[in-house]
Amino acid sequence: MPNVELTVNGKAVAVDVEDRTLLVHLLRDHLNLTGTHVGCDTSQCGACVVHIDGRAVKSCTVLAAQAAGSSVTTIEGLARGDELHPMQAAFRDNHGLQCGFCTPGMIMTSVDVVNRNGGELDESKVRHELEGNICRCTGYHNIVKSVLDAAGRMKLAQAAE
Ligand code: FES
Ligand code: FES
Repeated sequence: MPNVELTVNGKAVAVDVEDRTLLVHLLRDHLNLTGTHVGCDTSQCGACVVHIDGRAVKSCTVLAAQAAGSSVTTIEGLARGDELHPMQAAFRDNHGLQCGFCTPGMIMTSVDVVNRNGGELDESKVRHELEGNICRCTGYHNIVKSVLDAAGRMKLAQAAE
């Protein structure tokens, strides 16, 4: 009998996991959603960030059972078909990534940052909000540029809906 039922990227899933299973391992090992990365397993790097009910969460800090009944979105669920999410497009266009390891978590955090702050974002606010996400490659400059660019794109996309 599956003991954890939740929605992942819009689809209902039911999985049988041990009580100690972390959400990140449910996603990667049971659902094969390997875009969510494990960088540290100690809640520091942010590579594992997903959304639970629309809010960014480090999935290595959440038991799978704690996510039961919630709606989880991973990086695989962000694009609409072939159309990248505005945050993904902004990271691509502003060279906001190099090796890409931190990028899924960085993007999931950044979408939540824009959703919560809307037009009230500037460079220092973005840098503050991204303190929980570590990038070893980029020096952060282009990541910050990407998030500020995406904030404008997301506003336009919302206005067009
Ligand atoms: Fe979760 Fe690093 S793997 S914060
Ligand atoms: Fe390599 Fe961020 S792009 S760790």
